[in-house]
Amino acid sequence: MTITQPEKQTLINLANDARQHAYVPYSKYPVGAALRTKTGRIFTGVNVENAAYPQTMCAERVAIFKAVSEGEKEFEAISVVTENGGSPCGGCRQVLAEFGLETLVLIANKKGELVKEMTVKELLPAAFTPEHLK
Ligand code: THU
Repeated sequence: MTITQPEKQTLINLANDARQHAYVPYSKYPVGAALRTKTGRIFTGVNVENAAYPQTMCAERVAIFKAVSEGEKEFEAISVVTENGGSPCGGCRQVLAEFGLETLVLIANKKGELVKEMTVKELLPAAFTPEHLK
């Protein structure tokens, strides 16, 4: 199943809507993510911060962990929406790589405009993957 242009925009809009639930009292930088599985299900996520700062969890990982916890491990695309089209952090790139280097990453700004589009492979070249442990 490949993702169409309107489906990409829907994924961006869902991530942007989810941003309003971000818990960001410290950074004031809400991030929303929406992950589309190969079966067509969509899981959203937001960043959840903590007074003990390192315990913060990124939006992308919340979406991925929600999907995995519901039995989905094959992903088609993930949208990430921030105020200014910020890129996924290194930790989230690594977690995305665990589940496939071909997953499409859609990076958008708060107006819902696609700023960058690339695969996980492009986002994290020479990734360490489960293949290395075989
Ligand atoms: N953040 C994400 O949710 N995803 C990323 O890929 C980059 C950073 C969050 C973590 C923190 O709550 C805020 O953005 C500022 O770093």
